Amino acid sequence: MPLVTTTKMFKDAYEGGYAVGAFNVNNMEMIQAIVEAANECKSPVILQVSAGARKYANPVYLKHLVAAAAETTDIPIAMHLDHGADFEICKASIDGGFTSVMIDASSKPWDENIAITKKVVEYAHAHGVVVEAELGKLAGIEDDVKVAASDAQFTSPDEVEEFTSKTGIDSLAIAIGTSHGAYKFKPGQDPKLRIDILEEIGKRLPGFPIVLHGASSVPQDQVAIINQFGGNMPNAIGIPESELRKAAKLAVCKINIDSDLRVAFTAAIRKHYVEHPDHFDPRQYLGDARANMKEIVKHKIINVLGSQNKA
Ligand code: G3H
Ligand code: 13P
Ligand code: ZN
Repeated sequence: MPLVTTTKMFKDAYEGGYAVGAFNVNNMEMIQAIVEAANECKSPVILQVSAGARKYANPVYLKHLVAAAAETTDIPIAMHLDHGADFEICKASIDGGFTSVMIDASSKPWDENIAITKKVVEYAHAHGVVVEAELGKLAGIEDDVKVAASDAQFTSPDEVEEFTSKTGIDSLAIAIGTSHGAYKFKPGQDPKLRIDILEEIGKRLPGFPIVLHGASSVPQDQVAIINQFGGNMPNAIGIPESELRKAAKLAVCKINIDSDLRVAFTAAIRKHYVEHPDHFDPRQYLGDARANMKEIVKHKIINVLGSQNKA
């Protein structure tokens, strides 16, 4: 099935009280793990490409790998630019076949965020591509930029109507307590999302799809495997899956997950190396990594997103 935009995915998700997973991809095994999981769960899925992924893999390789994945399944797949930093990268992605782009000018002043976002929307819509933008500031690390928790800002519900109407965006990423990376909170903390802010934004923008970034939960069993087999990840916890489930039942239609996939991929490789010190064929350990990542994606689809059987 050819790649699709997120328009129908989000309408169905909004009405059905679930969210679509947006998973970051960097290589063939990751794309296969995500698409095989989504296919088995009959779930729509978004494959997203960050600046780091473009640098690592070359966008042309990623484009063709995603196209190959779409060709081998009938589930709806959107290819999305994650955290587009400026108009040029959004334009290049639109010209290169992405069906969805994010322009992330959330760190810029209000007027500038609106002006850049509007320019991307005009170009994207003229090419049949949808646009996500962001209001508010998440803590954590994204594309090597670290935002301290003290500098993070929740999205103000008072701003969302003006921002969406002035820019014409198709979905809005908001900050309600999620944060990027695998080290979000210390063990013992009890992280909660500001569901009250989400509900208020939902009232101000009825029917409008909301996006959550930084939604990894940092699976403790996988971190334990990494540390058991020679790793040294600090103890940390992520966003509780129960909190994400609540958000998915409300206006949140897209949930971004990257760090949890990395942890699962790495855990399987570390275990493989220790259990099979004689192996040197990359297909053996990458095969394990792919299989382990696939299980995490299936878990997210069934237990967090609720998007199984919605393809
Ligand atoms: O939000 C950031 C994503 O997790 C992508 O990170 O730039 O290291 O690929 P990356
Ligand atoms: P995590 O680091 O929590 O997986 O967030 C990923 C993300 O938001 C990608 O845009
Ligand atoms: Zn993000």
